[in-house]
This record gives sequence, C-alpha cells and structure tokens, in this order.
Amino acid sequence: MSFPERRTALLIHLALTNSDCDIATIRLVYQYLGDADVIPLLTELRRERAFTFSHSLRTMKFALIIARRMDIDLRECATLCVGALLHDVGKLAVAAHILRLPRQLRPVEIDKIRTHPEAGYESICDKRIFGWNVILDIVRHHHEYLDGTGYPLGLTGQRISLRTRCVTVSDIYSALTENRPYRAALSQDAAFHILDEMVGLGKLDGDVVGALRKGLLAEPIR
Ligand SMILES: [Fe+2]
Repeated sequence: MSFPERRTALLIHLALTNSDCDIATIRLVYQYLGDADVIPLLTELRRERAFTFSHSLRTMKFALIIARRMDIDLRECATLCVGALLHDVGKLAVAAHILRLPRQLRPVEIDKIRTHPEAGYESICDKRIFGWNVILDIVRHHHEYLDGTGYPLGLTGQRISLRTRCVTVSDIYSALTENRPYRAALSQDAAFHILDEMVGLGKLDGDVVGALRKGLLAEPIR
C-alpha cells in the first residue's frame, strides 16, 4: 500500500475508532475494502474531493450508530460502513466547481449532480466480494425516497433496502450538520426537525431516524 493509500486507511481507522467501533467490525471493513481494492478509489476521492471524503467518513459514523441501535449484525455493520464510505464516490465524475458553488444550484447543475449515484455504481460494479451487492445498492440508491420522489429510479417502499435507508438518513443528517458553501451547519435539533418532517411526508424510514436520535443521545459523536 502506498503512502497516500495508507493515509486514507488511517483516516478511515480514526473515524471508526472515534465511533467506538468494535475491532471485529474494523477488521471486516478493511477486509472488504482490501478485497474489493477500493482504497485507491477512496484515496482519489480524498485528494480530488476532500470535502466529499470527510462527509463520507461522518456518514459512516452515523450509519454505524444506527446499525448498533437496530441490532444489525457484525457482517452487515461492516457492509454498511463500506457502503457509507463509498456512497458519494460518483462525485468524482461531477466537476469540482459545481460541488463548491456558494449559491442555489441551477437546474442544469442539479442534473449533473444527480448523475453521481449511477456514476458511483458504474465505477465500482466490477469489484466482487461478499456483500458487494448490498454495497452497490447503497451507492446506487442512497438518494431514493420511500414515497418515490427520490432519484435516479424513483424507487418506493420495500424496494429500498433497510441498509440503504440507513445510509440515506445518515447522509442527510451528515449533510445538514456540516458547513456547506451555501449555508452554515444546522444544529442537531434543527437537523432532526427536518428529518422528522421528511418522515411525516413518507420519504424516510421513521424507525431509522429514531435509531439515529437515540444513538446520538446515548453516544454524542466526537
Ligand atoms: Fe449522494
């Protein structure tokens, strides 16, 4: 492993240990990342889209908190971590300046950003390991909503797996509580207010949002 890749692995390791992730899950996460040879891709994401990489680390931490609250087993926890790490890898295919625009996006820019789930899926679909189908599903469908208003396919209800729902909620919470070029980070309360509204509209899984809320109350993230 080259030095830049070792640095990526170290940052992933720090994020996992900051979430009090157990050693067995950490081992499995690295086995999956190594077997599928995606560390170089994550290194590229860290170099070329640093903000997206750190957002992915936070998303992984929140996904892990949800997984623990929902009694998801060890192997699935590791799968969820890898899926969360890779969920936005398709943003490598979106011009960096579009991701940094400090204003409301125009429809043509939104269309470009909306290509990233499919682009991410394409960039990793040839890598085959145990659990990879779940990871591909997370990458491709993390912007789908239960009421069918998400993208790219407008999937509904049970067609969106529980693992993907976990990453969707983690992703949205992570995004809301981060500083963005067009707005400051929201407080935890304000972020949950938005998530609760989305549950009320039938977009997000209320059990998953509830698991994140309980998890963060019990173990505020460092
Ligand atoms: Fe995304």
